[in-house]
Amino acid sequence: MEASMFNDILQKKTKTIERIIRSFLPEEKGYQKTVIEAMNYSVTAGGKRLRPLLMEETFRLFGGKDEDLPLLEPFLAAVEMIHTYSLVHDDLPAMDNDEYRRGKKTTWNVYGQAMGILAGDGLLNFAFETALQALEFCSGTNREYLTTVPAPEYNLQRLTRALVILTKKAGIYGMIGGQTADIEAEQQEGALEPEQLLFIHEHKTASLIQASMMIGAVLAGVADEETVQAVEKCAYDIGIAFQIQDDILDVVGDVEELGKPVGSDALNHKQTYVTIHGLRQAEKDVEVLTDEAIGILESFGGDNDFLKELLLSLIHRRK
Ligand code: IPE
Ligand code: IPE
Ligand code: MG
Ligand code: MG
Ligand code: MG
Repeated sequence: MEASMFNDILQKKTKTIERIIRSFLPEEKGYQKTVIEAMNYSVTAGGKRLRPLLMEETFRLFGGKDEDLPLLEPFLAAVEMIHTYSLVHDDLPAMDNDEYRRGKKTTWNVYGQAMGILAGDGLLNFAFETALQALEFCSGTNREYLTTVPAPEYNLQRLTRALVILTKKAGIYGMIGGQTADIEAEQQEGALEPEQLLFIHEHKTASLIQASMMIGAVLAGVADEETVQAVEKCAYDIGIAFQIQDDILDVVGDVEELGKPVGSDALNHKQTYVTIHGLRQAEKDVEVLTDEAIGILESFGGDNDFLKELLLSLIHRRK
């Protein structure tokens, strides 16, 4: 696929995702208006929308159908809300203490720390309120879909499975677990063990990418555990590569392009893939992991042209 064609398609797909995410955002009204404003500020600030993109592409790869979009769309929005909340909290002074994100002031920097904490809480909870909107579709009461959708039990099964994945990968056995180990590692005197760093990268970053792709597969109707596990492994590779590249960009990135500070890790005494393995090795490992992910992708068959290009584009991403 030519670069210009890929970029056009990516832009179009990102716009569609953007529209879907916005359609689920809460209305800014009531005495709790401020927290809702802070939530919407964070979500609409921009971002690559990588996780929903991966979810939708995996859904398509496994034959997900248009008539099942009412099941998928709430999850596209939900995973981006959880990801955004993780960033809002990650930027707080008590964590990475960063003032810019997605080219704008961080949420706490605009609304204050208390509202930053609450906006994160709000987004995490609202993500599940949003995902549960898919229940309406499952009840089979939506006349528009009555003739085409399979039995409500089948939809309910897929929805439940997706929810189990999302809750687990966002929690202490997923993203929150990784952020915990990441923050504690800042106080560690000696060098991190490579496995310790991998634990951090796997949990803080790969987990939500795994959730995205696994949910895409499950909602498309993939039922066998073996395939879901292969998707999980593929997303593990993508996630580790993605965080290594994030560590690289914290050293060699450009603030304007990146939309967030460069050098934040060093300032926080954070040991990263770059400090432990060196820049060259880090760059090499991003490529190796991406190759591995593409290999797994190919084993699934189906039309994976765009998804492959997307993964390749992440190797040299500048933001
Ligand atoms: C940043 O994620 C945090 C990491 C897990 C590395 P992204 O690089 O996907 O951030 P946005 O969503 O594009 O802002
Ligand atoms: C954060 O990793 C991963 C999250 C779960 C938010 P970083 O702290 O490296 O992410 P950035 O560089 O601030 O985006
Ligand atoms: Mg962090
Ligand atoms: Mg950070
Ligand atoms: Mg970083």
